[in-house]
Amino acid sequence: MKNECVLVTGGAGFIGSALIRDLINNTSYKVINFDNLSYAGNEQSCNEIATSERYKFIKADLRNRSSIEKIFEENRIEMVFNLAAETHVDRSIDNPNIFIETNVLGTLNLLEVTRNNWLGSMQHKNNFKFIHISTDEVYGDLRNKDEFFTECSKYEPNSPYSASKASSDHLVRAWNRTYGLPTITTNCSNNYGPYQYPEKLVPLTILKAIKNQEIPIYGNGMQIRDWLYVEDHTNALIEISNKGIIGETYVIGGNNEITNIELVNKICEILEIFIPDKKRSISKFKDLIKFVEDRPGHDARYAIDSSKLKNQLNWSPKYNFETGLERTVLWYLENEDWWDPLLEINPLKRIGVINK
Ligand SMILES: NC(=O)c1ccc[n+]([C@@H]2O[C@H](COP(=O)([O-])OP(=O)(O)OC[C@H]3O[C@@H](n4cnc5c(N)ncnc54)[C@H](O)[C@@H]3O)[C@@H](O)[C@H]2O)c1
Repeated sequence: MKNECVLVTGGAGFIGSALIRDLINNTSYKVINFDNLSYAGNEQSCNEIATSERYKFIKADLRNRSSIEKIFEENRIEMVFNLAAETHVDRSIDNPNIFIETNVLGTLNLLEVTRNNWLGSMQHKNNFKFIHISTDEVYGDLRNKDEFFTECSKYEPNSPYSASKASSDHLVRAWNRTYGLPTITTNCSNNYGPYQYPEKLVPLTILKAIKNQEIPIYGNGMQIRDWLYVEDHTNALIEISNKGIIGETYVIGGNNEITNIELVNKICEILEIFIPDKKRSISKFKDLIKFVEDRPGHDARYAIDSSKLKNQLNWSPKYNFETGLERTVLWYLENEDWWDPLLEINPLKRIGVINK
């Protein structure tokens, strides 16, 4: 008999690994982690649950349709969470091709293999769900203070990354409407938490500060993001997988709107408490902040109104920003073994380089 399990693509990444920890610790599902271990993927991120009999890692690439087919042939997949993607906006500006290959064509491959298997299998037709994890960046940016992204917001992607995610969202929608594939799409705001690759703003700031290197901030640092603690996000995804309505979209936000410069200042303040002694001739971590030339096409503000998720599925974030950020900073301070080997792997040319 085939193994019944949930397929998580991108499970060696930041959010995917958090989702797998949540699924193994808080549900009875068996989980297959499907990941090609790109520069952003790290098997170690699943160490906490790797010995579970309900967990299996498969190194495979979404761009290779036959590798997806093999997994569907060998297992009875009862749910798909699609998180595998190229995710860094700066990299998409330098090299958009791989974003189209993985995020668009990779999603197409996954949808097609899923559709072929779903159509052919009466047994799990009723319960099967394809949950596609996307971003609020597909909606472009907000200019008025009282505006928020909702499930009805217009698609206006501004970067090659968000354009590729928007394309994948459209494919998922079309596979639901045209073929009846039971899909749900989620669009979330910026996540933060443990195991995030060190090129992203929160870990970049923490590690630059720990290393006493300049902390770069794009433009004037006044860009606003709505920060969502990664465990609140995975909790929402599991709620959606249980009670979400097929064919619907859910936006997920953390109710934590803050400018990038305020965020970086907060991280520096937390670090002052944990690291009173500095290596270089600075008196405060904030002295390391350096404003650099803005990212082209940089979105001004993202903010999410998650009322639908709250009202329909009774979900709301559990972490307030202070607690979540402190937990995150502490995790990086205590887990050098995880991040140190990553510092020299494929660093970004722009601002992502952290010298050892
Ligand atoms: N991090 C955020 O703040 C955020 C916000 C909104 C939406 N999202 C979305 O959530 C998902 C996960 O984001 P993340 O931050 O965990 O990203 P990440 O970059 O940390 O992880 C992505 C994972 O996908 C894997 N991957 C990349 N290309 C692949 C391919 N061709 N085949 C198989 N695996 C491949 C990588 O190895 C990596 O493990 C993405 O789809 C992203 O668009 C992220």
